[in-house]
Amino acid sequence: MKKNKFSKNWIIKQKRDIYIKKSKLEGYRSRAVYKLKEINEKYKIIKNNIFVVDLGAAPGSWSQYISRNFNNTKIISIDLKEIEPIKNLEHIKGDFTEEKQKIKIQNYFRKKVNLVMSDMAVNTTGNKSIDSLVTGELCIDAMNFAHQLLDHNGSFVSKLFMGSSFNEIVALAKKSFKQVYIYKPPSSRKDSKENFIICRNLR
Ligand SMILES: C[S@@+](CC[C@H](N)C(=O)[O-])C[C@H]1O[C@@H](n2cnc3c(N)ncnc32)[C@H](O)[C@@H]1O
Repeated sequence: MKKNKFSKNWIIKQKRDIYIKKSKLEGYRSRAVYKLKEINEKYKIIKNNIFVVDLGAAPGSWSQYISRNFNNTKIISIDLKEIEPIKNLEHIKGDFTEEKQKIKIQNYFRKKVNLVMSDMAVNTTGNKSIDSLVTGELCIDAMNFAHQLLDHNGSFVSKLFMGSSFNEIVALAKKSFKQVYIYKPPSSRKDSKENFIICRNLR
């Protein structure tokens, strides 16, 4: 039993190292980039010529991925932290939950957007129920915002944790979007309750 636990932890660490090493080699700021890449490979939510909102963007690997691999995209990002400049990106340092920040994002495009993505997560407390609840609230806030901002055929992607608010979030998403999927990308750590919700086409 002990041996299994040990080897499981060892494998998880190795895998994490592989993604960290790969992100450094490829010049991405975080291993989080591979989660978005894997989501996109499966659900094809990113295209050329799109308007994107990146919530909880720092250090910026999701925006880097879009800016680097897709032509003529326009991205606005927000995070509590500052981020280093990225081509085609306008960044707001602030708290997304504040109304004034939402207005700034809305005013930036002054038209409907194609993709709203949120990787927002609070600093973990170590209490998995509290962590999933707080991240769940951020996901609901982001989803409501996305619903106002998205074009009819737009997509919403958000981190969420398996926890007490999981079923409520999926039910809310199904009320607002025609297609709703839950996906755990291979690069998301197996020992984390992290999942992603992918929603397409407004109702
Ligand atoms: C996992 S990181 C995002 C990584 C990012 N997707 C990337 O590829 O580099 C989560 C981020 O969410 C941000 N965050 C948490 N709560 C937020 C809030 N209320 N408003 C804005 N950003 C927030 C944190 O500051 C943190 O940088």
